[in-house]
Amino acid sequence: MTRADSAAAARSRPFSPTTFAWTACCITAFVCAATPLGLAQQPGVAKTETDILSRGPYLQLSTPTSISILWRTSSATKPVVRFGTQPDQLDQEVAASAILVRNAPLAGLEPSESLPSDTTSDASPTLHSAPVGTVQYEAFLSDLQPSTRYYYAVFDGATPLAGGAEFYFRTHPNPSAVEPVRVWVVGDSGTGDSRQAAVYQAMQDFVTKQDRPLDLFLHVGDMAYPSGTDAEFQRNFFDVYRSTLQSTVCWAAMGNHEGKTSKGLLGIGPYFDAYRCPTRAEAGGLASASEAYYSFDYANIHFICLDSHDLDRAPTGVMSQWLRADLEATKQDWIIAFWHHPPYTKGSHDSDKEGALIEMRELIMPVLEAGGVDLVLTGHSHIYERSMLIDGAYQTPTTATGVVLDDGDGNPHGEGAYRKSKGLHAHQGTVQVVAGHGGARVTRLGTSPVMKRVIVENGSTILDVEGDTLTGMMVDRGGATSDLFSIVKQGTVIPKIVENPRTLPAYSVAIDKPKREKSGTVPFPKNATELIKPNSEWDYLAGRHAAENWTAIAVIPEESDGWKVGKTSIGYGDSDDITELKEMKDSYSVVYARREFELAPGDKEKIAELGLAIAYDDSFIAYLNGQEVLRVGVKVGRGANVGDVQSHEAEGYEYFPLPNATQLLVDDDNILSVEGHNVSLSSSDFTLDPYLLAVPKR
Ligand SMILES: [Fe+2]
Repeated sequence: MTRADSAAAARSRPFSPTTFAWTACCITAFVCAATPLGLAQQPGVAKTETDILSRGPYLQLSTPTSISILWRTSSATKPVVRFGTQPDQLDQEVAASAILVRNAPLAGLEPSESLPSDTTSDASPTLHSAPVGTVQYEAFLSDLQPSTRYYYAVFDGATPLAGGAEFYFRTHPNPSAVEPVRVWVVGDSGTGDSRQAAVYQAMQDFVTKQDRPLDLFLHVGDMAYPSGTDAEFQRNFFDVYRSTLQSTVCWAAMGNHEGKTSKGLLGIGPYFDAYRCPTRAEAGGLASASEAYYSFDYANIHFICLDSHDLDRAPTGVMSQWLRADLEATKQDWIIAFWHHPPYTKGSHDSDKEGALIEMRELIMPVLEAGGVDLVLTGHSHIYERSMLIDGAYQTPTTATGVVLDDGDGNPHGEGAYRKSKGLHAHQGTVQVVAGHGGARVTRLGTSPVMKRVIVENGSTILDVEGDTLTGMMVDRGGATSDLFSIVKQGTVIPKIVENPRTLPAYSVAIDKPKREKSGTVPFPKNATELIKPNSEWDYLAGRHAAENWTAIAVIPEESDGWKVGKTSIGYGDSDDITELKEMKDSYSVVYARREFELAPGDKEKIAELGLAIAYDDSFIAYLNGQEVLRVGVKVGRGANVGDVQSHEAEGYEYFPLPNATQLLVDDDNILSVEGHNVSLSSSDFTLDPYLLAVPKR
């Protein structure tokens, strides 16, 4: 049975013969059972019954009258979903026969890389690469009332697996309905580390304080670093956002990291196993016939999700043609579009230099602005950037000349909200938000000329849409509202280009201290690019030894394991260190440091030579993507087991070509790791101050 068949066949029906009553006792037990850490078992709930739940339950594909509830168990169960409008009265049931069952591949079989040519993208009953024994259930609830809160619970036969007052959903309002809508927007979150946790906590605190819960969760991609595997989805997405996912639908766009294991064209991979996206206009809009791009309506908003990663972006492409028709068809008051690769950014990526970003600007933005788009949400670039009200900024490189309709800050309490005509009109102005700051390390290359706010801090974006007003807020990881803008659509507004718009000042790097002089015997290359800049932030571990695999990109430097974040130079003595290790002397002699850097697709082919520039005292071993590429002053061993460490004074940056390292480079995230060794515990100083250079091919 395909998902489509299942959805059509699955009709919720009143639960009989007896109405299930959700008692207070049950609620306590199930809330506890659903906590990610397992916690203490409640009396009457056997460990084996609750631990079988390995993912969810979570919500997908909601409409005014239906929703899908998904969950996984580590072995087969008798799946049952009960639901109702009162938490203690789940009087309707979806039976096992109306729930799609999907199994993990059998042991020893490789994940499927292709589908039979006659199947559609959402028709694969076998999961791509879930752990052996895993079963995924997808229950389709229909005949629901719009704008209504329902509670639900998931069972194995009569045995409860999850449920209680925290397991609920609210059906969509009818299209065109004017209701307050709150949307949470997150990008590039999937690290599983403390930054992601802090951003999530800040959003939860914000929402709780205002007593205004989320209606929708939009994820603009890169939710499962580094490779979007099934296990990374579990750890860096489902486990982290569990409490939100059980009561809010996450509508997702695929990022390049998910693209390492999932394919947009075929609709296969862990990403497509995790999400159930509309293909047949189930939630409004026009049928896309693909889960990789789709649209849906919520109240008076039309949402459009695109796959900017691995589909044709050309006007003649299938996605672009669908987009044009979808825009033509919608009659909603607002259009919000989201995808991964930003058309305008100078964060960790440069939209003037990278193909996918240039194409989204040059080829896709004209279609959207002709269709009256109001807001574009993207990620990929690890930063928060928010534009002025702009239109027609398609040229490369991006300039602010002739494209700004309002150069104010858009803040209703400041220079005033951006104004557009009521309804949908072509070319009345778009606000661009780059929200790639949801968990990965934030960085900045420069200033895109169309931006009004650039914030180099982790956080997320909350959108409130109420009738004719859309308000965007950036809530940073500390809980502060760091940006606020509004768009108001009333009456008739004649768009007018602002001559000489007020743009942000050029970006200059704040230098904590002067760069070291260059020294050493090997001359520094000319025209080299700094892949990791001097005085960058690194993850470092001091005072204890790193785990065996600490140089691998997939390893998350956990605070609980002693990892910290600090700018280089790291060390003590000589008063030349930004990150000073005051307790190192007489205590320990090794420091581990790692720093990731990104390469756009095609970049690695342009690099002729990689080289490490480093000031060091006394010796070090360097690794690229987990492979040793250089050792200086350490004769034998690694980490705790080094022998014969030579003494060396850090006079300045010395250059070391890394002859075979270019072969180790990969697209997207790479990791440079350096372990620094002091010659003795009692040494008067220690310095570890590396940066990474790439010499381009001529
Ligand atoms: Fe990305």
